[in-house]
Amino acid sequence: MSKPAKTIRKIAGNEPIAAALVLGSGLSSIGELMTDTVTIPYSELKGFPGGGVSGHGRDLLIGFMGGKRIAVLTGREHYYEHGNASAMRPALETMADLGAQTLLLTNSAGSVDSRFQPGDLMLISDHINYAGMNPLIGEPTDRRFVNMVNCYDLDLRAKATRLAQGFDYTLGEGVYLWYSGPSFETVAEIQMAIRLGANAVGMSTAPEVILGRFLGLRVWACSSVTNMGAGLSSENISHKHTKHMAVQGAEKLKKLIPALVEEL
Ligand code: HPA
Repeated sequence: MSKPAKTIRKIAGNEPIAAALVLGSGLSSIGELMTDTVTIPYSELKGFPGGGVSGHGRDLLIGFMGGKRIAVLTGREHYYEHGNASAMRPALETMADLGAQTLLLTNSAGSVDSRFQPGDLMLISDHINYAGMNPLIGEPTDRRFVNMVNCYDLDLRAKATRLAQGFDYTLGEGVYLWYSGPSFETVAEIQMAIRLGANAVGMSTAPEVILGRFLGLRVWACSSVTNMGAGLSSENISHKHTKHMAVQGAEKLKKLIPALVEEL
């Protein structure tokens, strides 16, 4: 077992977790839904996200949501912080060590499809790794040849879609295209994303999905749309705007995620 997993067990107890939930930009309030929460700063856990990006939390939460014991990573580390696509590997390996069988990912994204407007959620059905980087580069074993067909778990997607029918919003599915960032896209790059078959663009998640499948976890991911992609609306794109708009998505995710966790 990894050192951080031992530290977490010592602080929060040995009982296994059912799932790990990663919160994206402006979405850390979702962690407030947990009960019996034990908070462990990332700084106490070797290999967990360092530095940080404003709007992202820096704590690991262990507690209960939807009747299950889960871990919440209130912030992530991005490829654009240093050029290391495997930055989330130690944290995700630790989640698997703690017994997690499911990885739930959230992010903020720019929509390139008029079906998804700012404030909407987009359930991710698949991704395009346009950044071209891979967190498994350097992994020496044959396990690196991960099959990515249906990497966004079909059963979890169906469950989320069914659950959302009982809510006051629609939950469409779409393809997420990973741009490295940290600059936002050009207008021409957004036009390219549309032609490549994407519905939304963002700067995270895809490497974590690869790592999650590598670790044998069932993966589910949902975007909170904070803006239309560059050139698709008159709104000025900025990180400040992303954090501000993420609040609407967070409110929607606060209904969906506990209900989904309950069904795991
Ligand atoms: N592009 C990339 N990442 C994003 C965007 C965007 O427009 N909005 C939120 N994250």
